[in-house]
Amino acid sequence: MKSYSIALIPGDGIGKEVATAAWKVLEKVSSRSGFELKATTFPWSCTYYKETGAMMPADGIETLRGFDAILLGAVGWPAEVPDSVSLHGLLLPIRKAFVQYANIRPHRLLPGVEGPLKARNFDILCIRENTEGEYSGAGGRVHQGTADEVAVETSIFTRTGVERILRFGFEQARARRGKLASVTKSNAQKYSMVFWDEITERLAKEYPDVTVASYHIDAMAARMVMAPESLDVVVASNLFGDILTDLGAAIQGGLGFAASANINPDRSAPSMFEPVHGSAPDIAHLGIANPIAAIWSAAMMLDHLGETAGAEAIMAAIAATTSAGIGTVPGKDRTETITAAVVAALD
Ligand code: NAD
Ligand code: IPM
Ligand code: MN
Repeated sequence: MKSYSIALIPGDGIGKEVATAAWKVLEKVSSRSGFELKATTFPWSCTYYKETGAMMPADGIETLRGFDAILLGAVGWPAEVPDSVSLHGLLLPIRKAFVQYANIRPHRLLPGVEGPLKARNFDILCIRENTEGEYSGAGGRVHQGTADEVAVETSIFTRTGVERILRFGFEQARARRGKLASVTKSNAQKYSMVFWDEITERLAKEYPDVTVASYHIDAMAARMVMAPESLDVVVASNLFGDILTDLGAAIQGGLGFAASANINPDRSAPSMFEPVHGSAPDIAHLGIANPIAAIWSAAMMLDHLGETAGAEAIMAAIAATTSAGIGTVPGKDRTETITAAVVAALD
């Protein structure tokens, strides 16, 4: 029997609740699909930080490297640990160290979910650059606390980084409906975004079967609301992709539906699967977090591991659950109810 080692990082707040839910579904699907998943749970989180002074041990990355995949709930508890500390101590270093440069975030309506838009037939795949750009972490502050203070946050875009994410997007578009939307802000940002546009134009020649359009981020935000069915694959930089995918989550009915996969396409290190949403301190401990985003992310993990049938079974079970009106309206059903319905639908 095939066996996969999974590093489970539940994290903080509802991260713990939805990771538990996703794991229940994975256990069920593996038992009936003929493969084995072995979880090792790591308590790395803001709670761990308060106990140890670090979000993960110094050799945390090396520990994770040996796993087939990482399944993460959500990280962050800003009331007790600054986000700039917690996210730069756990989530962001994993994405970077394991060269998970392609963050794949699908946005479509599940059956039975209304969503806020009139449009219903959209199926967007956001591909977010995940290792550089606005998240490079380069910069600093001088004259801190004085009237002369200056803060600099440098976006770093490399040819390697831009080319590989665009190429990844082109390949996805080729495998889907053949349309690629490249998102920049090259009217205002004249170095990095013009560079991005140039690379898009050059690569387009290698993919004559893909129709390419470039949009400015502001116009794309409007388009995702006004005409989401006009979009297929959307490729964006780290920050622009971050913002667009919360918007994508909103049009698919809420953050509880938006899944994501942080992929290392070369398979030189493990990939990581997590919902788009965060730890949601406002609803943590209430037992009402929607686990569907995390469960969908778990399906993306199985797909990545090559367990396609298991992934499809999870997606069918999610669809059966929402078709029955369970988990379709934020806050209506309890996390446990939704999870139990997905597990039952796997029978
Ligand atoms: P958030 O995504 O946690 O919450 C935004 C809103 O969406 C809240 O009203 C929340 O209740 C709701 N929501 C989110 N997920 C939901 C779900 N599954 N079911 C129902 N409602 C849901 O964003 P935030 O409030 O900006 O961030 C909270 C913390 O999480 C911060 O520390 C932030 O940095 C962190 N964060 C972590 C990740 C991650 O680990 N990948 C992602 C985003 C934010
Ligand atoms: C996400 C999150 C993270 C990001 C934060 C928590 C650093 O918002 O995964 O979308 O911006 O990448
Ligand atoms: Mn985000």
